[in-house]
Amino acid sequence: MKVIVCKDYAEVSKEAYKVMKEVMTSKEEVVLGLATGSTPIGLYQEMAKDYKAGNVSYKNTKTFNLDEYVGIDRNHPESYYTFMNTNLFEHIDIDTNNTILPYGDTAKDCADYEASMSACSIDLQVLGIGGNAHIGFNEPGTSFDSLTHIVDLQEATIKDNARFFDNDMSKVPTQAISMGIATIMKSKKVILIASGANKADAVYGMVKGEITEVVPASILQNHADVILVVDEAAASKL
Ligand code: GLP
Repeated sequence: MKVIVCKDYAEVSKEAYKVMKEVMTSKEEVVLGLATGSTPIGLYQEMAKDYKAGNVSYKNTKTFNLDEYVGIDRNHPESYYTFMNTNLFEHIDIDTNNTILPYGDTAKDCADYEASMSACSIDLQVLGIGGNAHIGFNEPGTSFDSLTHIVDLQEATIKDNARFFDNDMSKVPTQAISMGIATIMKSKKVILIASGANKADAVYGMVKGEITEVVPASILQNHADVILVVDEAAASKL
């Protein structure tokens, strides 16, 4: 695993974009795995900025997102579908037919999503990390063999995400559909970005801890091509 420590969030976003640009310019038809949460927003802004400067095009790019809440309308302001449109897709030249997010709550919805991904393979998977080291919405205890599945969100995650729902935990969906850990591990390259002292324990567990399902991100130690881009606060326990 390659670890890049940056002084602050702005630098994390710029370093992450360097990795993204290298992949985007390496071939014609790139497949990206994308994440939500506040951490990738700076990276998405860098992508939009460089697209507007005419340096990169997403015309032939296809994207798959990690996850989506169960039980909220796609057009809900806090759905990940809305998040991706407002934070990235509206600002680049991607064909929205090629921006694919999981949706639904049945085993068939999960199998269909997995099938749509297995037709291609993800060149670069962007990941954030939860305070409890979850990746996607794969909470501690999720099997490393998991494919796309329905997840019961843990209380810690509901609490973390309440900030997007008027700080009201009762408004946060309690379930999500998420790519599984085995799905994520199939990507050719992974970039995980983290910022802030509240991620320091999770980052430590991911890089230096035992590889265990209790710390979902620790599985990335077994992936051949992972780049971790963190700020000093998130790296403080390494
Ligand atoms: C959510 C998302 C994750 C994300 C995590 C951290 O739970 N499902 O993909 O990594 O939040 O979010 P943030 O970047 O806002 O700290």
